[in-house]
Amino acid sequence: MTGLRAVHVRAPGKINLTLRAGLPREDGYHPLETVFQAVSLYEDVIARPAEDISAELHGRGADLATGRENLAVRAAELLRETAGEDSGVHLSITKQVPVAGGMAGGSADAAATLIACDQLWGTGLGREELAELAAELGADVPFALTGMSAMGTGRGDLISPVMSRGQYHWVLAIQDEGLSTPEVFAEFDALTGDGPGADDEDDARHGGEVVSALLSADPLVLARTLHNDLEQAAVSLRPGLADVLAAADRAGALAAVVSGSGPTVAALALDAPHASSVADVLRGAEVADEIQVATGPVPGARVIEHVGRG
Ligand code: C5P
Repeated sequence: MTGLRAVHVRAPGKINLTLRAGLPREDGYHPLETVFQAVSLYEDVIARPAEDISAELHGRGADLATGRENLAVRAAELLRETAGEDSGVHLSITKQVPVAGGMAGGSADAAATLIACDQLWGTGLGREELAELAAELGADVPFALTGMSAMGTGRGDLISPVMSRGQYHWVLAIQDEGLSTPEVFAEFDALTGDGPGADDEDDARHGGEVVSALLSADPLVLARTLHNDLEQAAVSLRPGLADVLAAADRAGALAAVVSGSGPTVAALALDAPHASSVADVLRGAEVADEIQVATGPVPGARVIEHVGRG
């Protein structure tokens, strides 16, 4: 224990600029090649000393489970066990990232919890060890630690940072009812059969295109590279998403793509005023429950405030 009274950590949601998926491996996971961008919708976790491990949720996730089903609670348990710590923590989590929206909000909670508890307990674990725990918790957790822009391979959990110039402006079309990631992958399998995997030549080329597009600082160049292999599966499970994509196109977005396993659709705009006009048109189209603007890339999980000893 460090004697700190509270640690506040903020972690971002993500969108997948490109996502290529291969045939499922023996462990059920699909090999991915994806380029993530962290965006300015955040999860805020405040960790305070307590006897046991517990959580409360505010904002979007107010009705979510706060027991072991909650990935943040599991993150605190895993860190406690690994560090041989015997104190507990109370987590107060305020969610902006859509729940089950393909933007890794639950993973951001877990990443923020690892950093917050590490600080609160003074575990002495390094960033690399925390990244290993992150990968154990879920495929998207390591990226929430790193943030900015990064290539994800393996299950999406092997992260290599990617250089990016400029700021990109997004309009996010959010649905109240989420999609289950395993169900979207199962639908992907059903639609793909024994088709090509993530390791074919075309895919390798595509990942390279996004990486150079990010260096251009030109949203028009980035727009041409957006792609998601899971999009067809998400649309098949939620046909209304085709209307969202078409409405984004009509609203003048440079391009639009389903983020991760969906159902959030990310539409790219030229700049902040353009994003706000695309957002207004999309609100009028009534194809989503909520429209938000966001920018990226933004940093990964980071400490916002330590509340001192006393
Ligand atoms: O690792 P995480 O718990 O976030 O993954 C949730 C589910 O999504 C996995 O159990 C698996 O069904 C699916 N998934 C996958 N391939 C990936 C990542 C996730 O099939 N690369």
